[in-house]
Amino acid sequence: MRPATAFKSWAHRVLPRPVVNGVWNLASDVKDLPLRLRSPGVPRPWRVWHNVGGGDFHLIGQQYFDWFRSSARLQPDAHVLDMGCGAGRLAFPLADYLDAQGAYTGFDLSERALGFARRHARGAAHFNFIRADVQSREYGGAGAKAAAYRFPADDESMDAALAISLFSHLLPEDAAAYLKEAGRVLKPGGRLCLTGFLVEPGMTLDAAVLPLKPFRDGAWAADPREPERAIGYERAAFEGWLRDAGLQLAEPVASGHWSTAVRAGEFQDRIVAEKLPA
Ligand SMILES: C[S@@+](CC[C@H](N)C(=O)[O-])C[C@H]1O[C@@H](n2cnc3c(N)ncnc32)[C@H](O)[C@@H]1O
Repeated sequence: MRPATAFKSWAHRVLPRPVVNGVWNLASDVKDLPLRLRSPGVPRPWRVWHNVGGGDFHLIGQQYFDWFRSSARLQPDAHVLDMGCGAGRLAFPLADYLDAQGAYTGFDLSERALGFARRHARGAAHFNFIRADVQSREYGGAGAKAAAYRFPADDESMDAALAISLFSHLLPEDAAAYLKEAGRVLKPGGRLCLTGFLVEPGMTLDAAVLPLKPFRDGAWAADPREPERAIGYERAAFEGWLRDAGLQLAEPVASGHWSTAVRAGEFQDRIVAEKLPA
């Protein structure tokens, strides 16, 4: 484990979560200041305030968008659902891509992140950012159980859906329920692109970049006492949830480096699923 990661794990054991996350996010914002100063006209959310991930918000968003566009076979008039959209990292490139027949719906539990997206991500398509009032120990949501959340979309109304870095924070029952909802709102043949951690049979993760440990119900967690910080699922459990949702894997899973000992390329696994015909 990197010294910084080991230090953060230790801090989580001895200090309240919001304090550790706040200090960590502030440090990350300070590190990214040069990037912000180089292009002052480009809107960038603050990690400490909007609770987004680190790195170049727009560059990473564009990379995920390129993957989403090709894997979901996206067209400019598509209706897209962005699950756990945060500050709209994917909404920005989608705003450039979707035309007036297209539509984007993003939902997230963070009103601050949604506020940033609403202010800045606009395009020819209809854009809608919706607050999901659900519980999360990691992100501070205190509403209803996420497993009971009904996505803000009609049955079979979406051509494609995405969830970047959302399933890595969902308890197993919430992950299963969110997949079911994705299956409900996708049109037959519609695709869901998501990132997460899939634990394959026989994986040894002790020396991994992200050393997940068994948690419960087919889920593994970095810290089983605080599972929503970083959680993965056994492949068999995940594929079972997909089946129950009327979905199936549409492409081989592209493995991230989280399960290896070397930091190279993508961190999380990239997963593409497709809604089966009724
Ligand atoms: C790592 S961030 C990723 C945000 C965004 N997808 C992106 O790529 O920038 C995870 C997001 O999931 C949201 N989130 C966590 N649990 C959620 C839940 N049960 N329902 C909806 N959003 C959730 C958080 O508020 C946070 O914005």
